[in-house]
Amino acid sequence: MAKIIVANWKMNGSLAFMKTWVPALTSDLASTSNQVIICPPFPFLFPLSAALKGTSAHLGAQNCHTTPHGPFTGEVSAAMLADIGCQAVIVGHSERRTLFSETNDLIKAKAEAVHAAGMTAIICIGESLTIRQSGRAIDTVIQQCQASLPPSATPENTRVAYEPLWAIGTGLTASLREITEMHQALHAATKVPIPLLYGGSVTEENATDILSLPHVDGVLVGGASLNMAAFQKIIR
Ligand code: 13P
Repeated sequence: MAKIIVANWKMNGSLAFMKTWVPALTSDLASTSNQVIICPPFPFLFPLSAALKGTSAHLGAQNCHTTPHGPFTGEVSAAMLADIGCQAVIVGHSERRTLFSETNDLIKAKAEAVHAAGMTAIICIGESLTIRQSGRAIDTVIQQCQASLPPSATPENTRVAYEPLWAIGTGLTASLREITEMHQALHAATKVPIPLLYGGSVTEENATDILSLPHVDGVLVGGASLNMAAFQKIIR
């Protein structure tokens, strides 16, 4: 079955990087049935949309504001992102929740704005190591998921990405059992079957095993998405 492969470049990349990265990806995009979504930093969205024209890849942003326009210096609206060809926006990444104090309510409003602009919201959720060690991971993540999903969410316009905080950028991937348990619980808790992604130290070595787990519809890839050879293997 086709899977969803999302590249989250975070605050990395450059025009020079894109010049080598995109052509290398083109043949893999032509030969895969997987849906590939590339999320670079804001300045690279527009040039990337031109570079990806004619390929099957979708363009995604890493954040957006809740309102379409207005006096919000430094912010970018979902409507603007749709205008330049974005099809998806990541909202509520743990780095935004932790470093920029984003709450479930704010993330829910951002996801609603993404839907209103006709795009897909990739809503991130995940527990800290302390919560995992206290045995409350599943309850915490389910609660976070329910509090972040807006009423406008459907299986077509939303993906939920489970990213345990302790697995992000640490090389510590959640075990296949931990991923299975969490995805089963999330699948049971969401009223409609929203596609579920896993993120957290996904590499070319573990992607196949993770993607073959029940209720894992795709992966959200950080560091390995910046390594062309690794990302090509994940797409394949
Ligand atoms: P890493 O793949 O670098 O662990 O990052 C995961 C992530 O945060 C993707 O959104």
